[in-house]
Formats: sequence, C-alpha cells, structure tokens
Amino acid sequence: MNVKLSFLNKNSPNVVGHNNPQPNPRKAKIGGVFTSLQTLAGPAYFIPNDNYQMATILALETSCDETAAAVVCDRTILSSVVASQIAIHQPYGGIVPEVASRSHVATLGDSISAALDQAQIDWGDIDGVAATCAPGLVGALLVGLTAGKTLAMVHHKPFLGVHHLEGHIYANYLASPDLVPPYLCLLVSGGHTSLIYVKGCGQYQTLGHTRDDAAGEAFDKVARLLGLGYPGGPVIDRLASQGNPQAFPLPEGNISLPEGGFHPYDSSFSGLKTAMLRLVEKLRAAGVDPLPVADLAASFQATVARSLTRRVVACAQAYGLTTVAVGGGVAANSGLRQHLQQAAAEQGLRVMFPPLSLCTDNAAMIGCAAADHLAQGHRSGLGLGAQSRLDLARVMELYEPIAVA
Ligand code: KG4
Ligand code: ZN
Repeated sequence: MNVKLSFLNKNSPNVVGHNNPQPNPRKAKIGGVFTSLQTLAGPAYFIPNDNYQMATILALETSCDETAAAVVCDRTILSSVVASQIAIHQPYGGIVPEVASRSHVATLGDSISAALDQAQIDWGDIDGVAATCAPGLVGALLVGLTAGKTLAMVHHKPFLGVHHLEGHIYANYLASPDLVPPYLCLLVSGGHTSLIYVKGCGQYQTLGHTRDDAAGEAFDKVARLLGLGYPGGPVIDRLASQGNPQAFPLPEGNISLPEGGFHPYDSSFSGLKTAMLRLVEKLRAAGVDPLPVADLAASFQATVARSLTRRVVACAQAYGLTTVAVGGGVAANSGLRQHLQQAAAEQGLRVMFPPLSLCTDNAAMIGCAAADHLAQGHRSGLGLGAQSRLDLARVMELYEPIAVA
C-alpha cells in the first residue's frame, strides 16, 4: 500500500516524544496540581482548578484521506502519526471514497501501533479512546470509529466520538494552551468555511458560512482548472509566492440581502471559481501560451484571503471578540496567514494559527477535543454511528453523561 507515514516534528510546540527530553506531563503532578510544559506559544498549561484531572487519550482520525492516530495528554501531544493517502488518490484527481476506506483499513493498525510506541505508554496510562465520527465520508469514518469503539471495549476505557470540526478548533489549544473561550474561530477546510463563536467545550454558534463552495474546495477546483493536480491548496500556495497578486482583478463573492446590501459574514466562492474559468478561457482564446499560472494563482489566493479576512474582522468586532483562532487545511495558506495577521494587528485583534502540521487533518486535534470532553464528564455510547453531516451546534448529541454511582 502506497502511503506515507509522517510524524510531527518533536521540536514543534507541545510535542513530546521518546527522543524529546521533556517529561510526560502525566508524571509531573505537584501538590495536586499538574505543572506545565514550556511551549513556544504560551508558557503555562491551562489548569481549570485544583481538582482537575488530566486525561490521556488515544485518538483516531479517518474522516477523509488521512489515516491518523495520536496520543494526547490534554493539550500536549505525546505522539502523532499521519499516513497520507494523497499519492493513492492523485491519479484520479480527487478522493475516491471507496479507495479511501480500504486504505484506512490497510493502514490504521500500523498507525495505532506507531502512535502508542512513539508515546511510550501502555494501556494502563490511557484514560479514553476517541475517534472522529462526523462529518466526513461515512465508509472512511466507520473504519476509525469501529476500531476506536473496539479498543475502548476491549481495554475497558471510555469511548468518545468527536466532531471533526471541533477537532480543527482544538488544534489551536495544542499550539496555544493558554487559549480560553470566548473567541471567534474561522474554520476553513476542504468541506467547510464557517465563522464560529466558541463559547466553551461543545458550545458553538455558527455566525457565518459559505453559501456554496468551501474555501479549500475552491483551491482544489481552481488547481484542477489550471492543470496543477490534487490537492490544490498547497500547490497554489507555492506558485502564488512567485506571482503578482494584483495581476488580475477578481470578485470576492458577496451574498446580497433581500433588504439591500450584503451579508457581512457569509461567503461565496463559486462566483470566484467561475471568474477564474472565464479568465482562463479568455487568455487561451487570446493565444496566451503558456498561461501565467503564478499570476493567476497569486490573484486567486489574494482574493480568497481578502474575502475571508474582511468577514473575520467584521464578525469579531460586531460580537466584541478580541481573539481569533483559525483551523482547517486552508489555515495553512501563507496568503491567508499574512493577510489576516496584518489586518488583525491593525484592528488590535489577537489572531492565532496552528502550526502547519496541525492545520490539515490529524488525530492529535481529535484527542485534544476528547480530553476536554472527558474532563467535563462526557462520553459516547458504543452504539454511536458515523454521520456524513452534523451541524457543529449539535456536538453534545454525541455524548451521554457519565453515571455517578
Ligand atoms: O482540513 P483538511 O485537511 O481536510 C478537510 O477536513 O477538508 O483540509 C483539506 C483542504 C484541501 O482542500 C486542501 O487543498 C486545503 O485544505 N489546503 C490548503 C493548503 N493546504 C491544504 N489550501 C490553501 N493553502 C494551503 N497551503
Ligand atoms: Zn479536516
């Protein structure tokens, strides 16, 4: 099976591994309060109160085209293994769901073993098992979900199903353990583009969303149009750095309101995608060969970055939120990172992006979300199913309260 296993860099923020001299935080308990690990992003481990117990989670993520397993202790990564299927799907120009499911089946066992080995812990140290259960490709989700439920049952551990998008939000806690709600989260992935008011664990309100394509989907479709292959985001990002972002004026995509004006937070990327198609047709009709792909990529990326940034700033200001966290694969985009950082600095907003390895799909973010849910007394039933769609506002439907004896 042609998959690439990759491991998070041990020198990344908040990563502990067997070659790393930092101690496992589970073993750093002092006077009833757990001490912190120094991180690049923030010095202190967030401790809600003296009775708080940290949770170590084995987490699995198989919602799309990455087979991932990780061991996370609250907001610290003990290990993170990601087996990318990109090479498998590349010849098809996109993800083939059945191929994704079969590849998860072939790879998940090795990924789990590698995650446990790298974390150097045994089952006695694990407090719970988590797996992404929604949203995503149902066949792919079922692989991780079934494995997670089985491991939880066999080892007598609580099981937690995790909402994939809540995982992307929690990637920010791994990078910045001092992050505390409320804050605004811009979720930008292959399937979603939303502005989320994060009130606490499991408490989310969607303030804005895309009316058509997700931002990542737009990157992928435009890359295909330009003959750049799949996945489109990283290749457009790379090319954009060599092009002129002002070369071609493109529409940002506004949602008209019946009473006049535009929706301040909702976005649309299908018009931008069509504008790119018309532009490429026009250039070809005029005999432009080769196409100025770097300028096209740079202009497209700058337009997406402007469109998202404008909505983030307007939304944060309207809701009085001073912190913005970004999550999802498109959070890796250098144009968006630069543009949003600059606008946030001008507006006095704190904006945070996870490191690149935590922007795209990984199991560490799933474990981090599960650890918080477990600490709140949430756990899922073993009858929990996979769901291709689930609104983030319904996350708490995944959990049953722990029975108190
Ligand atoms: O979060 P993610 O790994 O999977 C989903 O949950 O969808 O996001 C994948 C998406 C793809 O559309 C990919 O093209 C996009 O994230 N992406 C990027 C970059 N890296 C990944 N988009 C723009 N710039 C990037 N550097
Ligand atoms: Zn994702």
